Amino acid sequence: MTFPQTRLRRLRQSPAVRNLARETSLLPHQLVLPLFVREGLTEPVDIGSMPGVRQHSMDSLRRTAVEAAEAGVGSVMLFGVPAVRDAQGSGADAPDGILNLATEALAAEVGDALVVQTDLCLDEFTDHGHCGVLASDGSVDNDATLVRYTSMALSQARAGSQLLGLSGMMDGQVATIRAALDAEGFTDTLLLAYAAKYASAFYGPFREAVDSQLKGDRRTYQLDPGNRREGVREAVVDEAEGADIVMVKPAMAFLDVLREVRDTVHVPVWAYQVSGEYAMIEAAAANGWIDRRAAILESLLSIRRAGADAVLTYWATDVARWLRA
Ligand code: PBG
Repeated sequence: MTFPQTRLRRLRQSPAVRNLARETSLLPHQLVLPLFVREGLTEPVDIGSMPGVRQHSMDSLRRTAVEAAEAGVGSVMLFGVPAVRDAQGSGADAPDGILNLATEALAAEVGDALVVQTDLCLDEFTDHGHCGVLASDGSVDNDATLVRYTSMALSQARAGSQLLGLSGMMDGQVATIRAALDAEGFTDTLLLAYAAKYASAFYGPFREAVDSQLKGDRRTYQLDPGNRREGVREAVVDEAEGADIVMVKPAMAFLDVLREVRDTVHVPVWAYQVSGEYAMIEAAAANGWIDRRAAILESLLSIRRAGADAVLTYWATDVARWLRA
């Protein structure tokens, strides 16, 4: 029997050959660790729906960031959980607000070893749980929210955040914040635009992590999960507004969007492996239904393969250690 010359299995014959043929890398510095710090805590508190993830006290936050830096993680991203909330989210831009105090502490502790970045959104700080301020009819007021975001951006930059993650999905947020930062001399502060952020069920466990007050949903500002073109359009607009990096979120359910964004824009593209993606693998592993380590590595490699230059993941420190071992 004649046989075609094309024998694809030649490239899979041994670990050494497979190493040479591997198209996608996964490295510690390509990982970003999200961290939660909660005002008033003296001890960290476990998050039930995210086994292994905690709301941190200032002390445990510092220790956890040092561990991440020692493991070679590229960046830590901070979320703040305030003790008191109001309609304007006043805790977000108060210089002594929990997020800004924690940013100062981490910038001092690990700012030379990795990038210290902050989430820039109002939802953790508002008593209604929306990502912006509300108009009298109860809708989220885009342009009034931009005023609040501008103030937050300046507070975070002053606190020492090197990179602001604009996650609120308000129109014009990148251009508005870039102009305000530049006017105050913060020309080196990086902007990460959550460009294609979908209104996703996979954020479920995060709501517990930040004690979210939200009733209802975010469908008037976050994207419809059925829309790919619109996600790409968001990324194009954010790049044009001056975003240094754009993001797709969640990751695994939106790998097609991630690939198309990577092929379309010229800035780095990141992806956020969100709380529900984390919880699903942890729950299946806890039941013995899946090989935890193999599933985590495959999920991250797949997100990289789809086009992510870096990935936000709650497993960042674990994975960085595995990759180095
Ligand atoms: C809101 C925000 C959310 C997440 C990060 N920032 C939730 C939401 O938009 O409802 C989700 C992160 C995760 O699920 O891990 N600013």
